[in-house]
Amino acid sequence: MKRQNQSSVFEFILLGFSTFPELQEQLFGVFLVIYLVTLMGNAIIIVVISLDKSLHVPMYLFLLNLSVVEVSFSAVTMPEMLVVLSMEKTVMSFASCFAQMYFILLFGVTECFLLGAMAYDRFAAICHPLNYPVIMNKRVFMTLVTFSWVSGIIGATVEATWVFSFPFCGPKEINHLSCETPAVLDFACANTFLFEIYAFTSTILIVVIPFLLILLSYIRILFAILKMPSTTGRQKAFSTCASHLTSVTLFFGTANVNYLQPKSGYSPETKKVMSLAYSLLTPLLNPLIYSLCNSEMKRALMKLLQRKVFLHVV
Ligand SMILES: *[C@@H]1O[C@H](CO)[C@@H](O)[C@H](O)[C@H]1NC(C)=O
Repeated sequence: MKRQNQSSVFEFILLGFSTFPELQEQLFGVFLVIYLVTLMGNAIIIVVISLDKSLHVPMYLFLLNLSVVEVSFSAVTMPEMLVVLSMEKTVMSFASCFAQMYFILLFGVTECFLLGAMAYDRFAAICHPLNYPVIMNKRVFMTLVTFSWVSGIIGATVEATWVFSFPFCGPKEINHLSCETPAVLDFACANTFLFEIYAFTSTILIVVIPFLLILLSYIRILFAILKMPSTTGRQKAFSTCASHLTSVTLFFGTANVNYLQPKSGYSPETKKVMSLAYSLLTPLLNPLIYSLCNSEMKRALMKLLQRKVFLHVV
């Protein structure tokens, strides 16, 4: 009987917020707007940085990579979420559930390390300005970027194949908005103890340690800022730091809740809200926080717009 159950069902059913049907319609509108703004904001960053040669320095090249990650992350999660919200139940094939989990992990892990590298870059630039060109030379920069992407690929391959190697049984109705590890693991009818140890360890390495390093570099940056002579410069640097720190804390904090102990007893609603914070809010906020408050980026955008307008007039 059990074997039959296992082999006959090759689909997952995503439930979304179907326990709150009235909420679903409103959320659909909100999510659609968030998705479009996220795509636009990150697309602007990608275009501006790619086209402006003066921005081809580590800080902005990291940002370029981050925006590519954010756009890809949104493209993997948001369209499916919108479908889930517009229907009561969404059937997802095994293969697409696997693919979604794989790419969520890939872009999620890459984002963790990129954010870490960006904090390190700012730390070096602000706390060791004289040595900065040496600390963040081309080789170090390329190593950090490559490391982030390769870790993403390895992390996603190991975790997604491991989760999907478990036999699944029971009614596979996932009370979640996407095929994420914590939601899918509930249907594994095998001993997942070893996997949970792996998930815990890898989350410590990928989420907790980068987050602590980021906190540490911002603390060092704050001390450097406090020693600045001008009050306005101090205020500006302080508000930049505070906004970076807010977005980083939101991302790492919520990812931790869901991934540190994927089989934890948090309610599906809690997991959904946590998931929304890192898959919806972070890609929306990062372009605003990292670039639109940045005078260099604004200058580059203006230059680009003027050139475009000029071309049209001619
Ligand atoms: C990340 O940045 C590096 C260095 O500028 C660049 O070569 C690479 O294409 C970027 N990757 C993506 C996916 O944008």
